[in-house]
Amino acid sequence: MMTTQSQKVFFLFFAGFLGVLLTTVTINLAFYNPVSVAATSSDSEGYAFMKKYGCLSCHKLHGVGSTVGPVLDSIGARREAAWMARWIKNPFALKPNSRMPAFVYLPDEHIRVIAEYLSQQRADTTARRTKPQ
Ligand code: HEC
Repeated sequence: MMTTQSQKVFFLFFAGFLGVLLTTVTINLAFYNPVSVAATSSDSEGYAFMKKYGCLSCHKLHGVGSTVGPVLDSIGARREAAWMARWIKNPFALKPNSRMPAFVYLPDEHIRVIAEYLSQQRADTTARRTKPQ
């Protein structure tokens, strides 16, 4: 039989335990990202770099992001990876009055991964090809 004091201690311990459990569940839910789960590993790396470097603050991709710049869902149908790598590094070399900032400070490897990833984005052409003739 527990005394009132040990019941109190037990209750406080239990409440604390529940608190930690709830916090863990909440944090896990907050960081759960269905987009990267659905994509392949190389896809999610390119997408992760785009999020990390703020591309989505101007561009929309798969319904996420802003439309200051063009939507990139089908950019792979118009631009090659090599062109995009040059563009991302320094848009002004290709378009002197570009509104997109240069990303010269990014590691070349990260730019390459992003450009490869974007060259695979062909949402519009896929839709056109699968439409009945
Ligand atoms: C401050 C806004 C802004 C940010 C940040 C930005 N862009 Fe852009 N981007 C633009 C605009 C605006 C254009 C359209 C061309 C122009 O006017 O410069 C563009 C054009 C492009 C194009 C060519 C699109 C086409 O239709 O040819 C690509 C590819 C691109 N951006 C990729 C990226 C990537 C990758 C990042 C992140 C590393 C990024 N952008 C960050 C504004 C931005």
